[in-house]
Parts: sequence; structure tokens; C-alpha cells
Amino acid sequence: MDAAGVVLALPGNERLSAALAAGLGVEDAARVIRRFPDGETYVRVETTVEGRDVTLVCTLDRADDKLPALLLTAATVRDLGARHVRLVAPYLGYMRQDDRFLPGEGVTSRYVGRLLSAAFDELVTIDPHLHRHARLADVYAIPHRTLSAAPVIGDWVRANVAEPLLVGPDEESAQWVRAAAGADLPCVVFTKTRRGDHDVAIETPDLTPHAGRTPVLVDDVISTGRTMIEAARRLTEAGFPAPACTAVHAVFSGDAQAALRAAGIERVATCDTIAHDTNAMGVTDLLIRALRG
Ligand code: R5P
Repeated sequence: MDAAGVVLALPGNERLSAALAAGLGVEDAARVIRRFPDGETYVRVETTVEGRDVTLVCTLDRADDKLPALLLTAATVRDLGARHVRLVAPYLGYMRQDDRFLPGEGVTSRYVGRLLSAAFDELVTIDPHLHRHARLADVYAIPHRTLSAAPVIGDWVRANVAEPLLVGPDEESAQWVRAAAGADLPCVVFTKTRRGDHDVAIETPDLTPHAGRTPVLVDDVISTGRTMIEAARRLTEAGFPAPACTAVHAVFSGDAQAALRAAGIERVATCDTIAHDTNAMGVTDLLIRALRG
């Protein structure tokens, strides 16, 4: 991103936007984004964006609350003459409905991908949920960069947990757990069957070779928390202490945090792609390095 660029925070993303502006040496745009009394979105961009590269910063958890303002702000900066309009979405929502599981369902990951691809020239995100979509290019038609916070989790584990065993609670988590483990930490991956939003079953491999280690669960998302809770239950049944739980994205829907506590899980550490009181790892430097490149 050149020094003439501008970053612009959607509401709630001001801290990250300011840190990116400072780290990249670019302007943090002044803007007003608010609701009219009737609930519709008002957008005013006060910083000049004509002829400039503009990066909108908007993490996309609770995406239904955020997409209208994001799309309207992208349209506004384009209308005001921005040269290139990029989206930095540390968490990219709407990636998990990646198939039609029941007749008549919408494959909403594709539809949101189309909407954002029409509004932006480029997308930068961190660890999007890629499962049945093997690549982000299957969903997003625009140039994109997907960064990984798994090494950040690996560094946190090395600094905070003695004799760790990294544990992926399901097959999808293998990509994160192996990247976090690197060449020096042992890791295992469990097998999960999801029976409902709040109901998962987990099978474990033989864990006896790892007896005596402290388990650290590693996943991309904590949403209802049920994946972590069930994986933790299997670990304690196998004689391990309650695990630390780590994840890239702290979605935490509904009663997730209380349910984790009730299950005896005290230590939860997440990356700050979504602001949450479990945030213990930062992704700002990862983003700055990528945006400089
Ligand atoms: C799975 O499919 C993801 O990688 C996570 O395991 C999942 O999103 C966690 O969801 P929950 O916290 O609702 O079990």
C-alpha cells in the first residue's frame, strides 16, 4: 500500500484501523457512519479519497449487522473517485454454510462472496473457514490474500504452556494445529461429527503416548463452544488435565463463554480478529506485514 493510501474504519474497527494507519504510515480517514432515525445507514467520508487507494477495515462477525454499512461505504468511496477499494476483514463471516446440506437451503457463502466481490477490488483476510470450499477463489472472484494466524498461536503456546500437546478437535482443524505445532511440538487431531448447532460427537486416537503433557486445543473458530467442550471432555476422560483452548476467531455465540466455564475450561486464548475478553494474541503485525508487501 503506498503512502498516499487511506484506511477507513467501519464502526467497531477503529482500534485496528488506527494501528494499521500508524504501522503503514497512511492516513486514517475521518468519516461519519451512523443510523438515520428510521434505522437506515448514513455515510459521509470527510477525508479526500479521490484518486487514492482506500482500505476499508471491517471484521465480519455478526455480519448481518455490518454488511449494509460496509457495502454502502464501499459504494461511497468508489463514487467519490477512489482508485482501488480494498477490504481488510480479519474475520470473514458467512464462510460456514458452504454447501446445500438440506434441499432448498441457500449456499450463502457463495452469495456473500458475490456481493463483496462486486463491491471491492481486493480482499485481505485471516484464516477463512475453508472446508468444502477448498480455496477462497471458489467463493471470491476478486484478488485476495489469506493470512494465517496459526504461527501466532504456536508462539503463544511455546511461551505459555510447558510440555504442550496440541490438539485439533476435528479434521478441519488439522491445517491450523499442524501449522501451530511446526516441527517442534507434538500434535494430534480428533474426529468430529456435528449432530446439531449445539451437539457434537468426538472420537480420539490413542493418546497414551502423550500422557503427562498439557493439552492445548487449537481451532479456527469458537462459536457455540461445543466443539471445545466435547474435545475437552474426551481429554479429561483420557486422564489429561483440562486443556487450554486457543482459536483464531472468538465468535462466541449465545452462552458459549459460560458453557466453557461450566465445563471446567478456565484458560481460553484467542487472536484479536474479533474483539473479545479472551483475546491474548494480536494480528495487527501480521496484517501490517501483508499490507506492506
Ligand atoms: C468447524 O467446523 C470449525 O472449524 C469449528 O470447529 C466450529 O466452527 C466450532 O463451532 P462450535 O464452537 O459451535 O462448536
